[in-house]
Amino acid sequence: TGYFTYDHGFTATASCKSAITYIDGDEGVLLYRGYPIDQLAEKSNFLEVSQLLMDGELPTQAEFSKFEHEVTHHTMMHEAQKTFLHGFRHDAHPMAMLCSMVGSLSAFYHDNLDLEDPEQRRMAAIRLMAKVPTMAAACYRHSIGWPVRYPRNNLEYVDRFLHMMFEVPAEPLELKPVAAKALDLLFILHADHEQNASTSTVRLVGSTGANPYACVAAGIAALWGPAHGGANEAVLRMLEEIGSPDKVSTAVDRAKDKNSGFRLMGFGHRVYKNFDPRAKIIREMCHKVLEELGVDDPLLEVAMRLEEAALKDDYFVQRKLYPNVDFYSGIIYKALGIPKEMFTVMFAIARTAGWVSHWLEQQVDPEAKIGRPRQIYTGATPRDYLAVDQRG
Ligand code: CMC
Repeated sequence: TGYFTYDHGFTATASCKSAITYIDGDEGVLLYRGYPIDQLAEKSNFLEVSQLLMDGELPTQAEFSKFEHEVTHHTMMHEAQKTFLHGFRHDAHPMAMLCSMVGSLSAFYHDNLDLEDPEQRRMAAIRLMAKVPTMAAACYRHSIGWPVRYPRNNLEYVDRFLHMMFEVPAEPLELKPVAAKALDLLFILHADHEQNASTSTVRLVGSTGANPYACVAAGIAALWGPAHGGANEAVLRMLEEIGSPDKVSTAVDRAKDKNSGFRLMGFGHRVYKNFDPRAKIIREMCHKVLEELGVDDPLLEVAMRLEEAALKDDYFVQRKLYPNVDFYSGIIYKALGIPKEMFTVMFAIARTAGWVSHWLEQQVDPEAKIGRPRQIYTGATPRDYLAVDQRG
C-alpha cells in the first residue's frame, strides 16, 4: 500500500492532541475536562458546561456571570441576515439554511478579524454561541411562515431559545419547567464528543487559517449526514415507518440484511462498544418528560421494543451495537413540539460549544499544522494523451 499507512475512516489515527473531552469506548466513559457526563447532566447547565469546555475549568460565580452576560448580549443577528433568510424557499431544510446563515457570519465579521488576538478569537466563539440559537429559531420560523422573533435577553439561554421558537404575539408562551430542563440536558449531552466527523471538519478547516464562522459552517455541513447528527431525524422517520410494536421484528431482520440498505438508525457507534453513557441518561429523561408533559407517544413503545429485540439479537450483540445518543433524543424533541426537520439543528446548537472549544484550542496549539492527509493512489499508470479520433 505504498509509503503511507492506510487508515480509511481514521479508525486508528489521532489527528491532534486535545485536553477537552475523554472517551473510553469499552467502558462507556465520557468526561468533559475530567468531569463525568452523568455528574454534569445532573448538576450543571448547558451554559456552564460550554464555559467549562472553552476555558478548561468550572467557572466561579463571577466568571459565569461574565460569560452569561457576554453570550446574552450577542444574541441579535444582523438585520441584513433576515433578508438573506427570506431568500430561501419556505420548504428548504433548516440544516441547509443554518449552514448558510452561519457561513454568512464570515461575511459580516471577516475583514477586521485578527486571529492572532486572543480577545478577538474569544469574541468570535462567544458570537457563535450567542447567535447560532437565534439563527436556528429563525430558520424554523421561516420554514413555517412565521415572523422572526428577536431574542429576549431577560431570559436564560434555553428559555430564550424556546421563546424564539414558539412565542407568537397573540398569546404568551407558557413554558413547562420540565421542557426547558430536558432541552438543557440534551444540549449538555451533545455539547462535545472529541474528534467526531464534524469536529474534525472544524479542525481541518481551522488548520488552514480560515475564519471561525466558516469553520463552524463546515462542521454543520458534516453534522447533517445521517451517519452523524442527522441520525436523530432518521431515527424518528424510522420509528414512524415501523409504526407499531408488531412490526419491530421485521425491521430488525431488515437491518441485519446487508442487501436491504437499511440500518437501525440510532444504533452503533464508532467508539462506544459497550454502551453509550449519553443514551442511558436520555432514555431516563425520555420517560420523565413524556410523563410530566402528559404525552402518550406510541413511538416510545416502538423504540423500547426495538431496543429490546436488537439487544437480544446475535447480529447486534456480536458487533457490539447498542443504542446511541440519538436513539431516544428525537422522541423527547417531538414531545417538546420540535419537528423532526429541526432535530439536527438542535444538535448543532449544542455542538457549537464543542466546535468553538476545539477551534480555540487548535489556535494556540504549538504543534498545529495544516491538515493534509495522503492517499493510496489506485488510478492509471502514466499514459499518453490521445486525440479524440484515436480513442475508443
Ligand atoms: N444497523 C445494522 N448494522 C449495523 C449498524 C446499524 N445501525 N451499525 C453498524 N452495523 C454493522 C455494519 O454493517 C458492520 O457489519 P459487518 O462487520 O458485518 O460488515 C458492523 O456493524 C460495523 O459497522 P461499521 O459501519 O463498520 O462501523 P462504523 O464505526 O464505521 O460506523 C456508525 C459507526 C455510527 C456510523 C454506524 O454504527 C451506523 O451507521 N449507525 C447508524 C447511524 C447512527 O445512529 N449514527 C449516529 C452516531 S451517534 C451520534 C453522533 O455522534 O453523530
